[in-house]
Amino acid sequence: MILTVTLNTALDITCRLPEIRPHRSNRLHGVTQQAGGKGVNVSRVLAAMGRATVVTGLAGGTTGQAVRADLAECGLRDELVDVAGETRRTMAVVDDRDVTMLLEPGPVISGPEWHTFLEHYERLSARASVVVLSGSLPPGLPDDSYGTLIDRARAHGVPAVLDADGPALLNALPAGPALVKPNASELTEATGIQDPLGAAQKLRAAGAAAVVASLGPDGMLACTDAGNWRARPSTGLTGNPTGAGDSAVAALALGLAAGRPWPERLRHATALSAATVLAPRAGRFDADAYDRLLDSVRVDVLDPPHPQGEPCP
Ligand SMILES: Nc1ncnc2c1ncn2[C@@H]1O[C@H](COP(=O)(O)OP(=O)(O)OP(=O)(O)O)[C@@H](O)[C@H]1O
Ligand SMILES: [Mg+2]
Repeated sequence: MILTVTLNTALDITCRLPEIRPHRSNRLHGVTQQAGGKGVNVSRVLAAMGRATVVTGLAGGTTGQAVRADLAECGLRDELVDVAGETRRTMAVVDDRDVTMLLEPGPVISGPEWHTFLEHYERLSARASVVVLSGSLPPGLPDDSYGTLIDRARAHGVPAVLDADGPALLNALPAGPALVKPNASELTEATGIQDPLGAAQKLRAAGAAAVVASLGPDGMLACTDAGNWRARPSTGLTGNPTGAGDSAVAALALGLAAGRPWPERLRHATALSAATVLAPRAGRFDADAYDRLLDSVRVDVLDPPHPQGEPCP
């Protein structure tokens, strides 16, 4: 079972209209909503692939209830922990030209709520093959919260995949996540280095066992103790890239759980995330495109493996 952790769950609301005009009344043509937060997206993708997955994290108030109702409707196993504050809403206003995002910060989490969550997580993570820690930390939680979750998983021999940015990412590295998956701008912001390989090496030196940097339409790059690889989709696709990174994380977590060789992990992650660009909503992917794209992904070794590096599992 792959356990996904979304500490700042959200109700993702998508509004559509032909053209948004600021400082005016705008009449919407349609509104949809679904449970969100990056770990929830990862679990959606895993469940759609027929893999066992459990959603945990924090949820509260009427928005939290709406999140839980949507998880139930989608058949996702809900192990969220209740908090007193109100779960955030995100609003994506989609017009014919672009997307405007409006984001609430999320509820303030108290010390006792965090401790209740940790006890719950302890039980769940002991049964997981991999834990996936995704997204922003809600207000009130310390910057090293992900480090604590990585440590607790490791105590059960369970590896952690981390998809976070800024202080939440940097403060988790000393705990030694098995894999971190920043995108290009998150990588540069975290390290101050423009070159993705140099930046990935810096994150490894700070404690990450492996780094997969996702580079949008250019594919991804892996920096590991077994070597460095570059994966490219055969062609850049037009569609909705929101959640493509979450699908990459889902595929990488599956590859880690199965002990697949790195080039295979990257091939699946690149094809699945590209197939996600072709689906209209985050957490969904085009299954036919995934099969089709798998054969067309190109994976190249960037340089020989480090002499002391362990062979690929
Ligand atoms: N236009 C595209 N065409 C083909 N593949 C794409 C495209 N955009 C993204 N991808 C694939 O999706 C992966 C993840 O994309 P990206 O780097 O944008 O992630 P992200 O910014 O973390 O996304 P999010 O956080 O919204 O899930 C890329 O590494 C690439 O393999
Ligand atoms: Mg991302």
